[in-house]
Amino acid sequence: MNAARDDETRAERARSFGRVAADYDRIRPGYPAAAIAPLRPGPVVDVGAGTGKLTTALVAAGHAVVAVEPDPAMRTVLAGHDLPGVDVRDGTGERLPVADGVAASVVYGQAWHWVDPVAASAEAARVLDPGGVLALLWNLPDVTAGWVAELNRISGQPEVTARTTPPTLPGFGTPELVETRWTQDLTPGELLLLFSTFSRVSTRAPDDRRAVLGHLRGHLARTPETAGSMPIGYPYRCLTLLYRR
Ligand SMILES: C[S@@+](CC[C@H](N)C(=O)[O-])C[C@H]1O[C@@H](n2cnc3c(N)ncnc32)[C@H](O)[C@@H]1O
Repeated sequence: MNAARDDETRAERARSFGRVAADYDRIRPGYPAAAIAPLRPGPVVDVGAGTGKLTTALVAAGHAVVAVEPDPAMRTVLAGHDLPGVDVRDGTGERLPVADGVAASVVYGQAWHWVDPVAASAEAARVLDPGGVLALLWNLPDVTAGWVAELNRISGQPEVTARTTPPTLPGFGTPELVETRWTQDLTPGELLLLFSTFSRVSTRAPDDRRAVLGHLRGHLARTPETAGSMPIGYPYRCLTLLYRR
């Protein structure tokens, strides 16, 4: 694939979430309390907030949140949760609709890989107060389990290893890494629904998408850890990368 086509596909995937907003909200994982415990007390800007998976955890931890999300369908689901202390705004990581120096933390849950890192670093630095922290979070499937690695391979998710190499961000120091292991209990049908919300699956042509989901279903039925086990404990390593200004 040439570079221009690659960029186009990536941009299409970045815009793909609204079409699966309801399923996304139903089945995507939330975030364990330990993953956000290192954030400073005070207001948080949650960028690429989606339907509010990370926002919900931030509210439970007592933070006031400005939730920034460019996709109108995702924003509608998020606003419908009516979370206390949450201000939902249209915007992107490259252009935050937030004043200078007002945030104790800027967080990205499963969303940093969709932004231009240079522009988004500059915007995060602009809205953070002097002691501010930029936190990038990912719920990564724990591919040390062979059956999880195989599900990942079938669905074409190459990102897991890339996420474990912390990027260097202009204006920020070396990040501190906090890792939290946890599991999401899912029936086989729910696990398939989870995979159907991944942009590498949802943006395929219908026949191709059905074929991938069929392969995933077959793998679940053949694998001792998942065949007939109700529910399946789907294992995650939740990574929090903490960058200080
Ligand atoms: C995988 S979802 C993550 C949603 C939520 N933070 C979570 O943890 O479930 C990625 C989100 O990033 C949003 N997004 C895509 N491009 C973006 C950009 N340039 N700036 C901010 N958000 C973006 C998408 O619309 C989508 O809602």
